[in-house]
Amino acid sequence: MKKIIFFFVLLFSMNAYSAPHGDELFAKHCSSCHGKDGKGGVGVPLAMPSFLNSVSDEFLKKTIRLGRPGRIMPSFSTLSDAQLNAVVRHIRSWSDKQAPAEDSTVVKGDKKHGEKLFASRCAQCHGADGKGGKGTGVTFSRKRDLPIIAPALNNAGFLAAASDVMLRETISHGREGTPMVSMLDAGMSKKDIDDVVAYVRSMEAQAEKLEVSLNKNDDEPAILVADSPYGMDETVENLKQAITDQNFTLIRTDYLDHGLVPTGKENKKQVVLHFCNFGFLFEALAIDPRVGMFLPCRVTVMERDGKVQLSTINPKRLSKLFNNHELDESCDAMYEVYSSLLEDATL
Ligand code: HEC
Ligand code: HEC
Repeated sequence: MKKIIFFFVLLFSMNAYSAPHGDELFAKHCSSCHGKDGKGGVGVPLAMPSFLNSVSDEFLKKTIRLGRPGRIMPSFSTLSDAQLNAVVRHIRSWSDKQAPAEDSTVVKGDKKHGEKLFASRCAQCHGADGKGGKGTGVTFSRKRDLPIIAPALNNAGFLAAASDVMLRETISHGREGTPMVSMLDAGMSKKDIDDVVAYVRSMEAQAEKLEVSLNKNDDEPAILVADSPYGMDETVENLKQAITDQNFTLIRTDYLDHGLVPTGKENKKQVVLHFCNFGFLFEALAIDPRVGMFLPCRVTVMERDGKVQLSTINPKRLSKLFNNHELDESCDAMYEVYSSLLEDATL
């Protein structure tokens, strides 16, 4: 008898161990942004009836798997299918209604007319071309004129997850309790709404470009390196000159191990130059505060086996690292600056 009880206890605990718990997974992976009970935070609220009643489980799964590239919503590609299902079940537990079935009916409409309507009725929140409210949801990086930042609609992740029917439902009925109002109530006709759906769907062409631009820096090296034909001191002087010539402020020069070893014992063959351009700094921080981890700008000069080398982080990797295409432009500009600094100092 004891043996049998033991067997059942074992079986039960094994089962408890292997079946993923949606609540725990949600707490671990999602609640920091969407709130413990799905009431929203940096991420949009998920527990609202108006949301849950308009999206299928398919939409939820695809959204979680694909994320919203370039926005703050990450892609959870490493969750197992069982874990993914458990998270979705947990989200569903906030509603007592059944999930709407996935309906892939194509909504036909006049996308030219939809584009005009979009500019006049949607762009003030969703941005011109549906690129989303300003910023990516991170604190400080957005205007505080809306309690919930409007999602990007021209987003590859969103468009892959959302069916035409989901778009039509959401636009028609809105999301109660958010700035997204029912467009039927706001006076748009059903035909107007279909036209807007056709226009939003047509953003897919543009969204694909976005993905390509996101992936374009995949094979960029993480670090930019240049060999100097000069000695250590001369290279450092050249670099200081190049930094000033590029209109940067030299903040300070340190030995790489400064503060780690007693003063005077530093390795004089490893020097870091810290510099900054305040215009760039404020611009980049406004787009994404995480850039702060890499500021101020620095270049390291090192002498090894009589050879002097300069190195710095490759700014092109940042926009990729942070999954934020809004950074592309400033990172590309920084890449040009860093490359020319290294070049000028070693010319
Ligand atoms: C006053 C600002 C505002 C206007 C105007 C507005 N929206 Fe929204 N929209 C939002 C917000 C905020 C959300 C996110 C709501 C939430 O928390 O789920 C949203 C959500 C959506 C969603 C769901 C996106 C997703 O990620 O699931 C769609 C689709 C959408 N809006 C389309 C439109 C269209 C089309 C128009 C114009 C006809 C429009 N919206 C007008 C603010 C707005
Ligand atoms: C780092 C913050 C963050 C984390 C972590 C996060 N999300 Fe999100 N999520 C967001 C933001 C922000 C959006 C809105 C997308 C936009 O702005 O375009 C979003 C959107 C969504 C949407 C679409 C909502 C809609 O209105 O269409 C779902 C569903 C979702 N998240 C589920 C999850 C789940 C489940 C997890 C955990 C497995 C998770 N998210 C983790 C920030 C996050």
